[in-house]
Amino acid sequence: MSSECTWSILVVLGFILAADAHGGTVCTVRSSTGKEVLLGSNFTVSCIFNKPCTKQLFRNNEPIKYELSPRSREVFVYIRNLTTLSIFTCKCNDNPEPCGIDITPGYPPNFPQNLTCIRKTEFGNVSCTWTTGRDTKIVTTCQLRVQGDPHHGYESVMNSSGFCWATFPIKSLMSQLTVSLNVSNSLGSNTSGPHTFTLSNIVQPSLPKIKHVDCSSRWCHLHTDNHSMNLVEVQYKSPKGIWKKVQINGKKSLNISLLEPYTKYTFQIRRKINQTMGLWSYWSQAKEAETKEEAPDKVLDFWYLRELKPSQSEKCFRIFWKELSVSDAKGKIHQYNITVKKGNSREIIVVPRRINESICCSDCSVSVSAVNSMGQSPENFIKLQTPHLVSGFLSHKSLSNHSIALSWPRLAIAGNITEYVVHWYPVGDIEEIQWIRVVDTKANITGLRPQECFQGAVTALTSNGPVASNKDLSTWQSAPEQGPVPQQVKKKTESLIVKWSKIPQEKRGGCLKKYTVYLMDKSKGEIHHYSVDYPLTEYIISGLSPGQCYNLWVTAWTDAGEGPRGSDLPFCTPTDTERLLSLVILAGGAVLFFCLFLICICQFSSVQRRFLSCFQCLLPRVIPDPANSKCAKTYDKEILFYLQQYDSSMSEEPENVEVEEVPYHPSFTCTYIKSFSQESDSSDATQITRNTDISEDYISTHGAISGGEEEEDEEKEMGLDEFEFFPSIRSPFLEPLVSTGGKLTLDVVKIDCSEFLDCT
Ligand SMILES: *[C@@H]1O[C@H](CO)[C@@H](O)[C@H](O)[C@H]1NC(C)=O
Ligand SMILES: *[C@@H]1O[C@H](CO)[C@@H](O)[C@H](O)[C@H]1NC(C)=O
Ligand SMILES: *[C@@H]1O[C@H](CO)[C@@H](O)[C@H](O)[C@H]1NC(C)=O
Ligand SMILES: *[C@@H]1O[C@H](CO)[C@@H](O)[C@H](O)[C@H]1NC(C)=O
Ligand SMILES: *[C@@H]1O[C@H](CO)[C@@H](O)[C@H](O)[C@H]1NC(C)=O
Ligand SMILES: *[C@@H]1O[C@H](CO)[C@@H](O)[C@H](O)[C@H]1NC(C)=O
Ligand SMILES: *[C@@H]1O[C@H](CO)[C@@H](O)[C@H](O)[C@H]1NC(C)=O
Ligand SMILES: *[C@@H]1O[C@H](CO)[C@@H](O)[C@H](O)[C@H]1NC(C)=O
Ligand SMILES: *[C@@H]1O[C@H](CO)[C@@H](O)[C@H](O)[C@H]1NC(C)=O
Ligand SMILES: *[C@@H]1O[C@H](CO)[C@@H](O)[C@H](O)[C@H]1NC(C)=O
Ligand SMILES: *[C@@H]1O[C@H](CO)[C@@H](O)[C@H](O)[C@H]1NC(C)=O
Ligand SMILES: *[C@@H]1O[C@H](CO)[C@@H](O)[C@H](O)[C@H]1NC(C)=O
Repeated sequence: MSSECTWSILVVLGFILAADAHGGTVCTVRSSTGKEVLLGSNFTVSCIFNKPCTKQLFRNNEPIKYELSPRSREVFVYIRNLTTLSIFTCKCNDNPEPCGIDITPGYPPNFPQNLTCIRKTEFGNVSCTWTTGRDTKIVTTCQLRVQGDPHHGYESVMNSSGFCWATFPIKSLMSQLTVSLNVSNSLGSNTSGPHTFTLSNIVQPSLPKIKHVDCSSRWCHLHTDNHSMNLVEVQYKSPKGIWKKVQINGKKSLNISLLEPYTKYTFQIRRKINQTMGLWSYWSQAKEAETKEEAPDKVLDFWYLRELKPSQSEKCFRIFWKELSVSDAKGKIHQYNITVKKGNSREIIVVPRRINESICCSDCSVSVSAVNSMGQSPENFIKLQTPHLVSGFLSHKSLSNHSIALSWPRLAIAGNITEYVVHWYPVGDIEEIQWIRVVDTKANITGLRPQECFQGAVTALTSNGPVASNKDLSTWQSAPEQGPVPQQVKKKTESLIVKWSKIPQEKRGGCLKKYTVYLMDKSKGEIHHYSVDYPLTEYIISGLSPGQCYNLWVTAWTDAGEGPRGSDLPFCTPTDTERLLSLVILAGGAVLFFCLFLICICQFSSVQRRFLSCFQCLLPRVIPDPANSKCAKTYDKEILFYLQQYDSSMSEEPENVEVEEVPYHPSFTCTYIKSFSQESDSSDATQITRNTDISEDYISTHGAISGGEEEEDEEKEMGLDEFEFFPSIRSPFLEPLVSTGGKLTLDVVKIDCSEFLDCT
């Protein structure tokens, strides 16, 4: 192998080093068994010198001891168990030019085995490979002889994994192939054979090709290149599936059936002469094709909750549904059709790419269908009903930080229970609702988060309508991290109405249970506390002393304990005289205001006309629907799940406004929305100073009118609300009055009175 090369490099090097020396080698080296020896064998290396000199012998450049031969000028060394390539060199002391030999240990070839022959296509040459099982480590020649072929043998050199190969043409008339193998090197040779093949049995068809694929929703038709093979194997898979294989008689068309709709498949084919003959071709290049869509055939799982919309006369429900799985959808779902059936009428509401919708109707059934390009999923009507509430039968046990086991007794209620629906959602985030349907009386719910409060409920679907029970659920709770901020609503000499802010969900540490209101009497230093059940956020403290100062704060509780206090609310109750004074001022102000208003009306005939026409408009024959009034529509919509009559934690986010219809005047039936729990403006703190610098400030700012010293009697509050109903009168009307001393211009009045018509 490389021994000659190594040696020649050494020799060249030697020549360069000894350029001045005389020509010709001083010695020759010989091995008793040649340059290639059996691995682990013993042999003798000897050096014959051309002239007498001091002799040296090296093995891999290391000097070694040698023995003197009986013959003069010859030295030798006995080498035992040679396992690696070794270089032996000899030289004379006075001559730098050495002589040497590379000795390579190796093996004779083993018996040739594992002969495989392949004929590429029915007309190609035959390629054979075989092996001797191990690397001989020395140059080994492989030879293949074909019987009846005049060629004396097809030769190759064995590669380092011990493989040999040969490629040869076939005479056209042959049907049988007989070959013999010979593997040889300097240490020996080995032969095998003759081996006989049936030629058609070693034919490997050429690489097949899928030209194109036609698909319907359930099958695909493969178009391939021309071929003469009888057997085709098709393998195909969906993106996440495994390969499936099917063998088809290749003369027929390649139809792959039992496929899933709307799925991208990858196809490959290979061929063979027939079941018994020949070899498989390689797999063709992969070809992708997508099956067509089909209308979904699975009923959509949907659930609904009662939604409380303040101004709706009909009941409202929020419908939630689950997206179909990819295999159930059978296509791209581009919308949902909600069919609302009421009596004989059907209405379809189209919802694009959302999974909830609000429906307002009474005594109706709905069905939700997923729609793809081929149609929609089957209808399944459910009657929308407000469930009958049963409290307290639901028990729960925390399984881990993320799951809870719920259980409930089989309800002894009229009607047969078909199934139970267990639903839950994080308090305040109804869109994250999840639900499961069970027939058993227990269920595990998972995917919860610790320190978060979930609203859960079990609804039994019975033949007589739904029956539900609800519960606040949490896995692991802590005390709240934040305290509520108290705010004064109304202050009297002996009582105080206080309300407080809600704690953000993420600071609650779980489900709130109650609040504690602390009241410290500053003069005595006593602390009283009052417990207020969640979800109330308002409390009336009575029994206060007039003219006394207090400090107030509020804390929140979960089952895990009490949270920190929010900000303090220091306040002082007014003395009785202060109260009297403020009443007088307010009454005087109201009288003054009313007088000015009357003057305005009487002064200008055009205003009178407008006022009268406005009054006519306010005498409607048809009572306006408060639900459609402009005022009602501006109120925040909010979802109040039916169960929140019991726990209104849902009603937290927007400031909730209770509304009530109140006639504008006994003789006029123009209805309007009256607010009872309007936020008090920041009137409380400035109250005392306002009492001293009397009327101007008081009249000219709206805040002073609606939020100033409140009167207890309902009539006065109504009077104020009447003004709120004519919002434009206030500022542009009054301010010039005060500042110009009663001189009004007609333009101002025109502009203002035109808005009287807003109420219709
Ligand atoms: C090589 O020599 C050693 C010791 O002299 C002997 O044991 C061994 O059998 C010899 N091997 C062969 C292959 O002759
Ligand atoms: C020959 O050498 C190899 C490795 O160097 C060793 O494993 C083996 O035992 C030796 N054989 C003899 C007979 O010394
Ligand atoms: C052929 O190989 C076998 C081992 O497979 C070996 O025993 C035999 O000696 C080899 N024959 C020759 C001639 O080297
Ligand atoms: C088959 O082998 C012959 C000779 O070895 C060569 O000339 C010919 O091109 C080969 N044919 C094919 C198809 O490889
Ligand atoms: C030769 O084939 C036999 C079985 O046919 C197998 O066990 C062996 O591993 C093959 N040898 C080589 C070197 O591939
Ligand atoms: C030797 O040839 C065989 C058969 O062609 C091949 O599988 C193997 O990879 C080759 N080994 C080397 C080291 O080239
Ligand atoms: C195998 O090849 C070697 C070297 O070419 C030769 O000496 C030997 O006779 C061949 N044996 C057979 C059976 O052909
Ligand atoms: C495919 O085969 C058919 C029939 O055997 C033949 O008519 C046609 O010409 C072939 N096409 C090609 C491209 O070889
Ligand atoms: C397979 O093909 C061979 C050669 O074309 C033929 O002799 C044999 O009968 C075929 N076998 C079957 C099962 O078709
Ligand atoms: C879904 O509703 C729309 C609007 O009514 C209707 O045009 C469409 O045909 C419906 N889709 C199906 C599949 O019924
Ligand atoms: C309840 O189911 C039982 C049997 O399954 C049936 O006999 C009974 O009539 C059902 N009751 C009602 C109210 O549907
Ligand atoms: C709920 O989980 C517990 C514990 O993992 C298990 O023992 C029980 O069978 C589960 N119950 C249901 C209804 O899956």
